[in-house]
Formats: sequence, structure tokens, C-alpha cells
Amino acid sequence: MSQPLRMPSLIPESAPFSIDQRVWLNGLFAGLLSLEQGVTPLSLEQAAALLPGSLDLAAPGASGAPAEDDDGAPWHDPAMPLADRMKLAEGRPLRRRMMAAMGQQDCGQCGYTCQDYSDAIVVQKEERLNLCVPGGKETTRMLKTLHQELGSSAPAQAKTPSQTPTPAVASAAPAAAPGSSRERPAEARFLSRTRLNKPGSGKETWHIELDLAETGIDYTVGDAFGIFPANDPALADAVLAALHAPADFPIGGRPLRDVLLDGVSLGAAPDMLFQLFSYITGGERRQKAKALAAGEDPDGDAATLDVLAAIEKFSGVRPDPEAFIEALDPLQPRLYSIASSPKVDRNRMALCVDAVRYPINGRARLGVASTFLAERVSTGDKVRVYVQKAAHFGLPADPSLPVIMIGPGTGIAPFRAFLYERMATKAPGRNWLFFGHQRSSYDFFYQDELSGMKAAGALTRLSLAWSRDANEKFYVQDRMREVGRDLWTWLADGAHVYVCGDAKRMAKDVEGALVEIVAQHGARSTDEAIAFVAGLKKAGRYQQDVY
Ligand SMILES: Cc1cc2nc3c(=O)[nH]c(=O)nc-3n(C[C@H](O)[C@H](O)[C@H](O)COP(=O)(O)OP(=O)(O)OC[C@H]3O[C@@H](n4cnc5c(N)ncnc54)[C@H](O)[C@@H]3O)c2cc1C
Ligand SMILES: NC(=O)c1ccc[n+]([C@@H]2O[C@H](COP(=O)([O-])OP(=O)(O)OC[C@H]3O[C@@H](n4cnc5c(N)ncnc54)[C@H](OP(=O)(O)O)[C@@H]3O)[C@@H](O)[C@H]2O)c1
Repeated sequence: MSQPLRMPSLIPESAPFSIDQRVWLNGLFAGLLSLEQGVTPLSLEQAAALLPGSLDLAAPGASGAPAEDDDGAPWHDPAMPLADRMKLAEGRPLRRRMMAAMGQQDCGQCGYTCQDYSDAIVVQKEERLNLCVPGGKETTRMLKTLHQELGSSAPAQAKTPSQTPTPAVASAAPAAAPGSSRERPAEARFLSRTRLNKPGSGKETWHIELDLAETGIDYTVGDAFGIFPANDPALADAVLAALHAPADFPIGGRPLRDVLLDGVSLGAAPDMLFQLFSYITGGERRQKAKALAAGEDPDGDAATLDVLAAIEKFSGVRPDPEAFIEALDPLQPRLYSIASSPKVDRNRMALCVDAVRYPINGRARLGVASTFLAERVSTGDKVRVYVQKAAHFGLPADPSLPVIMIGPGTGIAPFRAFLYERMATKAPGRNWLFFGHQRSSYDFFYQDELSGMKAAGALTRLSLAWSRDANEKFYVQDRMREVGRDLWTWLADGAHVYVCGDAKRMAKDVEGALVEIVAQHGARSTDEAIAFVAGLKKAGRYQQDVY
């Protein structure tokens, strides 16, 4: 039998580290130091200084695991602003502060979880600092600042697609099946889109179906689906025109226009682009470009500058096309909660997608992936896709347990999947759905399906909340409070609670309402109710899929 590979240890045998700590430190050093160069073991103090968290060297063996690995990462909350997250992480080791800089969604769009991405940067297995989609520019900026503490190499710039290295997690993993990860997408066929809002709605949300028959993809309800989008061709052409660059200029063996379509983000202009402009303009424009590159806002318009608007602001700039592409961020896949059950039809998969469109200075800005699905892809087209497995979002293993699902807007997506799954598997547990949206006459997604499920007894209870039917806002959490006593009874019966949809406002308001309900109907103080909800989370009975 072959022996497992052993890494030469740089940590003295006498050092009071657990096996996990030793492995972690050795991994760190393997990245930081060249093992081929015959590095001598570190002193205890050097090793301890690099270990994450405070380790009491005076009391060998007293500490079980690295302290900060057990602190529950209090900044790991997608609703918390970056400044607050960084404050919570103050004084922590670099990898923890880098983790706090991430978007905290563990969404996997970068190819990692938030923690794995920061670890990969610290051990220098990942050099790209601009991969966090939910964190956007402010995360990239913070990572760049923190990266300087590593000191050994300059922060990485965006790479052209052909130069893009494979994320560390993927290179360590055995070859995966197509469609099982972002690094190994499969090609699904686009089947159809159906508008879920009635004409006159203020929203544009689509039920999207894809055919997985040729992909071999396997998924479970609760998982999300990754889509590799393409930019709007009209936007790519406008960028080419503004640059006065030839569409067929070769970039890494591909025409510039193709790279603009599917290789780089044409959303928010990255700092690197302004840095590039600062090199090729002069005078006041150069100062402005430098200020924008430093995250300042000299003209009060920084938030409105996508790539095209940035070129137009510095009209007449003629960057070298290759340098221009290198200054842009890579175009990242986007995730969508799966809205169908493979138990019903494993090849026909559904999503529920809200099209992001908003005007700035008279030009319609388009969310790249949502409008790709809403208008640019046609029936029969191939779309690059993958399944993002949900680590902590799924139906209870015991099918007899009741479930409470809270999903306003597109948050209904995974719950449609849950309901179909529970019907297909004849799960005896009760199902309670809270759905809400703007107006009952226009935005009642899947109304007929839900009525049918209710009539069939599969949907035990449906509670609705329309935010714009009356003068006063009325949200799902207001409905929850109204029926708080019943909710408490379901909880007492062992119900699992699920929340899906907006992370910034809805998710924390819903949690607040649940705390109130537990306090009021469970006869607990607010602190006890908070602890009760925390206990539900810990037991996997309060799960969130928020974005
Ligand atoms: C696990 C997970 C599941 C998800 N599930 C779903 C789902 O089921 N359905 C769904 O629709 N989405 C879902 N999302 C969100 C989805 O991944 C995308 O983030 C969303 O569709 C927007 O992507 P986009 O490419 O269209 O927009 P982008 O090109 O990324 O543009 C969005 C950006 O535009 C800017 N913006 C948006 N509106 C405005 C405005 N009014 N004014 C100024 N700026 C604005 C903001 O900076 C915003 O970040 C999910 C996300 C995650 C992480
Ligand atoms: N960054 C933002 O400001 C912003 C705003 C909207 C949506 N989004 C994002 O857009 C995507 C799609 O949104 P969506 O189409 O699913 O719907 P949505 O815009 O999230 O709206 C769904 C429903 O939730 C209501 N709502 C708003 N604030 C709420 C709160 N604090 N608590 C409970 N409900 C609340 C909305 O009411 P009202 O609209 O009447 O208030 C609406 O009735 C999501 O990714 C979401 O995060 C972002």
C-alpha cells in the first residue's frame, strides 16, 4: 500500500501546536517559502507569530484549536457594511482580515468560499484580488491594501482570460464531472423564458428553463446554478467605438470584440482602468484619473462610471487595447437559486431571475447576467453553466418535519423547488410559505401553481404580503408577526425555517421579527429569544440563501 505524501515540517517538534495548526502552518510556509532552497525550521516565536489568533505559548497544549477559527467569524454577515466588518476583524491575523473584506455570501462565484479565498491569497496560491462579485470594488480595494502586508509581491492585476490561473481549490481537487464546478462548466441548452409579472408591474422577473440533458449535471433542491453570461453586444461595440480600437485586434489569440463580449466585466470601472488612464493623460485629467484610481471621487460621479462612462469621461484616451483589457476585471459567472426539483424532471431545470436595469445619465445600464437570461439568449442556444452545491441550505433529512419558507420576490425560487420535491417524494411534513412582493395584481409569481398545491394539500399554508397595495409598506415579516402564535407552534413542533432573497435588508428584518415572535409567544426575554434563534441556526433549523 502506498504511503500518504508527507510534507517536510518547518515547525519544531516541540512547538505546542495541534495537528491542525501544524498542517496549517506548514501549508502557509510551503506557499511563503521555497522548500527547495533548504529553509531551516522556524523558531517557536516566529511560528507563533504567524499562527492565526492568539496562542498562549506559556500554557502548551491548553489551546485546542486556533482561537480565531472558533470565534464564529462575527463579521461573516452579508448585511454588515465593510467598515463594520473590518472593525470586528481588527487585530486579527491577515487572513482573517482578508476574509472580513469579502462579500460574506460564501456564494462561490469567485471559485471559493470567503474563507478559502482569503486563505488562498495569503498563501499566495491565488493572486487575483478582484474576484469577489458581491463585494465589488470596495472589497478589491481593501484586499489591495491588506495585500501590501504580505509584502513579497505587488497586488495582481486583472488577467486576460487566456492568462487567468486556475483557483487553488480547483487545482487541488481531482478532475470533476462537467458542470460540477465553476472551473469545469458544462453546456446546457436554453429552453424558454416566461414573464412572471403581469404587464404594468414595476418589476421584470422571468421564469427561465434550461435543458440539462446533454450536461450530465446532477443537482439537489437548495443548490444554486452558475451561469457564465455574455455582455450586451451593443455595449461592447460602444466601448470599441469610444476607444477607436479595431474589433479584430488580437488579444491572446482572440479578437478584441470577443474578449469584450465574454472575457471582461464592462460594469463598474475598476481602479486599474483609472490608473492606466493616469499614465496616458496629462494635467488636470491625470490628477482626476489618479484620484479615481485611489478610490476618491473628485467630480462626485464615481458611482456612475461603468467602463464605457469612464472612457467617455476621459474622452480621447487611446490606451493600447491589450493594456486596456488587462486593466479590466474578469467577467464572473452569476448564481441563481434553482427553482425546480430533479425528482420531477431531472433534465428540465428552472430559475427565477429578476432583470436588473436602471438608467444613469440617459443610458440604460444592464445587469450582465440577468439581462443575458432575460433577453439575449435564445431557445436552443448553449449556455455555460455549473451547479454550486449548497453547503447549508436544504430540506430536512426527516421528511415528516414541518418547514416554514420565507421568500419574497425571487426568494421564492428554492421554495418552488422544495415544494415540488416534497410532493414528488410524498413527504408527509407540513409546508408553510411566506411570499411577498410589490403588488398582488401584478407580482404574484406562480399563483396558479401555488393555488393548485394548496388545493392538493401539498402547500399547507400560504401567507402573502404586498408592499405596494396600500399606502403603508407591508412586508413578509409583518405577516409573520400577525401569525406569530402559529409560527411559534410550528417551531415547537420542530419546524425548519428557511429564508431566501435580499440579504441587505429583508434577511435581517425577518430574523428580527422571528426573535420578537419567539420572545412574545415563547415567553422569553429578548436575549433568550436571540439565543433561541442562534440555537436554531446552529442546529441547521434556520437556513438562509440570501444575496
Ligand atoms: C447564492 C445566490 C443565489 C441567487 N439567486 C438569485 C435568484 O434566484 N434570482 C435572482 O434574480 N438573483 C439571484 N441572485 C443574484 C444574482 O446572482 C445576480 O447578482 C443578479 O442577477 C445581478 O446580476 P447581473 O449580472 O444581472 O447584474 P450586475 O451586472 O452584476 O449588476 C448588478 C449591480 O448593478 C448595480 N445596480 C443594480 N441596480 C442598481 C440601481 N438601481 N442603481 C444603481 N446601481 C444599481 C449594483 O452595483 C449591483 O451590484 C443570487 C445570488 C447568489 C449569490
Ligand atoms: N441594493 C438594493 O437596493 C436592492 C433593491 C432591490 C432589490 N435588490 C436585489 O435585487 C434582486 C432581486 O430582487 P427581487 O426581485 O427578488 O425583489 P426585491 O426587490 O427584493 O423585492 C421583493 C419584495 O421585498 C420587499 N422588501 C423590500 N425591503 C424589504 C425588507 N426590508 N423586508 C422585507 N421585504 C422587503 C419589496 O418591497 P418594496 O420594493 O416595495 O420595498 C418587495 O415587495 C435581489 O438580489 C435583491 O437583493 C437590491
